[in-house]
Amino acid sequence: MARTLAALPKAELHIHVEGTLEPDLAFEIAQRNGISLPYRSPDELRDAYDFVDLQSFLDVYFVAGGALRTPRDFHDLAWAYLERAHRDAVAHVELFFDPQAHLARGIALDEIVGGLSAALAEARETWDMSGSLIACFLRDRPAADAMAVLEEIIELDSPDIVGVGLDSTEVGYPPALFRDVFARAFEAGLHRVSHAGEEAPHTYIVEALDALRIERVDHGVRAIDSPELIERLARDGVALTMCPLSNKRLHVTPDLRDHPIRALVDQGVKVTINSDDPSYFGGYIADNYAAVREVLGLTDDEAAQFARTSIDVSFAPPVRKAQLH
Ligand code: ADE
Ligand code: ZN
Repeated sequence: MARTLAALPKAELHIHVEGTLEPDLAFEIAQRNGISLPYRSPDELRDAYDFVDLQSFLDVYFVAGGALRTPRDFHDLAWAYLERAHRDAVAHVELFFDPQAHLARGIALDEIVGGLSAALAEARETWDMSGSLIACFLRDRPAADAMAVLEEIIELDSPDIVGVGLDSTEVGYPPALFRDVFARAFEAGLHRVSHAGEEAPHTYIVEALDALRIERVDHGVRAIDSPELIERLARDGVALTMCPLSNKRLHVTPDLRDHPIRALVDQGVKVTINSDDPSYFGGYIADNYAAVREVLGLTDDEAAQFARTSIDVSFAPPVRKAQLH
């Protein structure tokens, strides 16, 4: 019997925990922390979701994320997401978070990670959902800041932090700026991913592969412009963590019929479907699967293949992957 998209066991590999902050929770957390957000109500915050590009989204995302102050806030944020993800049969998650955004407000790394880890542990206990953390560096801040945060991460030695990533404003901040940071992460045994080719050209993807030795590309939409890169991704089995509803809302591919997901899969690239910042982009992971199915006319088998790929290209230990298949 064909399983619905929401019931397919899957991994979510491109999900910013700060991007799961729903307006009601943002207001609840702000209120208990005595912080006033520059919006009068959750509805007014929602009204600001009128994005024209990545930057116009990031401006709202960082303001709303400013409500987060305590380990409890990070716990409650992650827990709300994990509960929602469980309803979409997410069995494994690799949660991105932006340590620099919070350290800048005086919150300590162990408070952020402590809150997130507590929620992951509860999810493990409650639903046997596995999960880990990927600390993303903000590419529009100096590489030296990222290096300092990386040293803190290595020092903290949290078993939950399995890797590092690179996010925020893309154009003008090429991957090679972070060559030394990612070399240090490699040396410390951390996995490496990077946003690339979301708004910037395919050359950013090539540079991230070469200079940062990344294992997965976050978004990678612009790979479609280079047959040579497509061949390389397919040959080396480097997966793309794509986020169709995000791409639609941020005008990367305003019409999903133009999304390169199908062409890339047809050329042998491993692609996964994810939600990026679901509170802001109008859908959690199963909604992203549904959007792809509707627009590209996927069969149930093809949809199930996306879910299997997500488990295969995750950083879960091999025994866990075997359990999930
Ligand atoms: N941070 C959160 N979501 C992001 C995205 N889609 N691109 C870059 N940085 C982000
Ligand atoms: Zn992202």
